[in-house]
Amino acid sequence: MSSTFATDVAKGLSEEKKTLSSKYFYDKIGDELFIKIMHSNEYYLTNSELDIFKNQSQGLIEGFSLKNGDTDLIELGAGDGSKTTHLLKEMLNQNIDFTYAPIDISEHAVNSLVASLKTNLPTLKLRPRIGDYFNILEEENTNNPKNRIILFLGSNLGNLNNNQASQFLTKLSSRMQTGDKLLLGLDIKKLPSIILAAYNDKGGHTRDFNLNLLTRINNELGANFNLNNFIHAPYYDPILGRSVSSLVSTKEQVVFIKELNQEFTFRAWEAIQTEISQKYDLHSLNEIIKGTGLVFKRVFYDQNKLFMDVLIEKES
Ligand code: AVI
Repeated sequence: MSSTFATDVAKGLSEEKKTLSSKYFYDKIGDELFIKIMHSNEYYLTNSELDIFKNQSQGLIEGFSLKNGDTDLIELGAGDGSKTTHLLKEMLNQNIDFTYAPIDISEHAVNSLVASLKTNLPTLKLRPRIGDYFNILEEENTNNPKNRIILFLGSNLGNLNNNQASQFLTKLSSRMQTGDKLLLGLDIKKLPSIILAAYNDKGGHTRDFNLNLLTRINNELGANFNLNNFIHAPYYDPILGRSVSSLVSTKEQVVFIKELNQEFTFRAWEAIQTEISQKYDLHSLNEIIKGTGLVFKRVFYDQNKLFMDVLIEKES
């Protein structure tokens, strides 16, 4: 068996409750579809967080409680940096001595972000990094700035379940030093119909985003999924406070994956879970950060209180 992708697909489709990991959404087509989702009327998350960065950058900087001396602003999964740019501008306006270190697994994302920042903010000090967050943070740890601020925005934490999120934050905390800050962008629990609509936009971009997983398996692993035989069926679970996306087989069918030399049988109406998008409130967040070595400092809401950026600190 060749790739991690192949191994993960084999494992996920062999489980009693079939799953495919949402990390495989993001090939070239998936990236383009995600941009369309972010621009859709229903997907309020992006604009809500943008509102916080546009209107409260000054408050964010106050919350960072910067000591005199240099500052590293590290962003995990920086993407196109559209929200962060507002913060960067404000920090430059205030003559704060800092370096921005965007980290992303995608070389393409980092290169295009760096190109646009060099044009738009030519005086910005940049230290872009490509690769795994934790490996890079380990190396960044040997750097000893007076202030270290880590950004993890977009409710990306929400694609992990709460146990995985605690483990992720514990690992992150182990790469931080006392006083380092983490700004965590998190989607808030709210009227279920608003959340569900965000994962079921009328333009069908989220549907295509999910179905693209099957196209990827067809193209990269030589499978014969017929996309007409699956429907995108998201739901919101208010008990667990999360949106769950799935692809449901509309009939009994067998799919062959050449790369695995294996057949997978689907019963009529059997689902493949593709993603969870966890929603939070301060109570659930406190449960998640308990025991991670991180403590809550302050919260920033957008004007409509749909989204929050939470400032958390590494305790002594
Ligand atoms: C990247 N992540 C936080 C998005 C979310 O809201 O869970 C991915 C996404 N899936 C469907 N729409 C957006």
